[in-house]
Amino acid sequence: MNEKPPENHWHNRAAWDRLARMQDRLAKPARDEDFNNPLANVDAMGWLGGNVRGKRLLCLAAGGGRQGPIYAAAGAEVTVVDLSPAMLELDREVAQERQLKIRTVEASMDNLSMLDNAYFDVVIHPVSTCYVSDVRPVYQEVARIMVAGGVYVSQHKQPASLQSDIEPHQGSYRIKHGYYKKDPLPAESRPNLIREDGTLEYVHRWEELIGAMCASGFVIEALTEPMHAKQNSQTGTFGHRSTMIAPYVRMKARKMGAETSGKSKGLILG
Ligand SMILES: C[S@@+](CC[C@H](N)C(=O)[O-])C[C@H]1O[C@@H](n2cnc3c(N)ncnc32)[C@H](O)[C@@H]1O
Repeated sequence: MNEKPPENHWHNRAAWDRLARMQDRLAKPARDEDFNNPLANVDAMGWLGGNVRGKRLLCLAAGGGRQGPIYAAAGAEVTVVDLSPAMLELDREVAQERQLKIRTVEASMDNLSMLDNAYFDVVIHPVSTCYVSDVRPVYQEVARIMVAGGVYVSQHKQPASLQSDIEPHQGSYRIKHGYYKKDPLPAESRPNLIREDGTLEYVHRWEELIGAMCASGFVIEALTEPMHAKQNSQTGTFGHRSTMIAPYVRMKARKMGAETSGKSKGLILG
């Protein structure tokens, strides 16, 4: 783990602060209807077993006023970690408006040293590993702060999607960046739904996204590729590109190991 944050930390922090201030589509706080049946709204697959009441739940890299408040409304004891103070401010605003209790922590996902060992029953981690150059310390930190038997739900950008052209060329999308690329991807010229404007993003290989998760002490119990393909959609749209390249992968993993936390004894989720 790095003592001094790398350059991409400050770059992405500023970029996400800007996106939050611009009310970007990924910085849209939860709406009234999201609170009607809160858990169903954020866990359509039922991976959390239909109940998070009283669970210690970490929304990792999930600021923006949506996920944290919804899980808190579902009865979880919620902590939100995010790199961006402006994204966290949205969580605090929504929590205050709706009288929900949420702890917000400004930190990078690859250094959670302010969080206790074996504390969280559930970690929810929306798409964001693309913003760090190395996923291994992220998984190691998540494993450290989770109880044995806890559930880790994460979503990631697929490598082929990050590697490929955003715009089509004669109806297809060419692979533009190497699979083993270590440097951040170059900026795209136009806003699009594949890359977030102004951020530094990295391609992670399957060996890293899945292999490193297993090596960090997780067993993967389920894996899906959220469907965004729209057959017969116009060439160049997100729906069309998704018929050729799946944008995301979502995984449910369980932390292995001997039970360490008194609170979580007998924990069964999902
Ligand atoms: C795609 S958004 C996810 C949150 C979104 N509001 C949602 O509802 O899913 C990605 C989030 O990751 C955060 N982020 C980026 N790099 C990070 C890092 N190194 N550590 C923690 N959070 C990070 C951003 O500030 C942003 O809030």
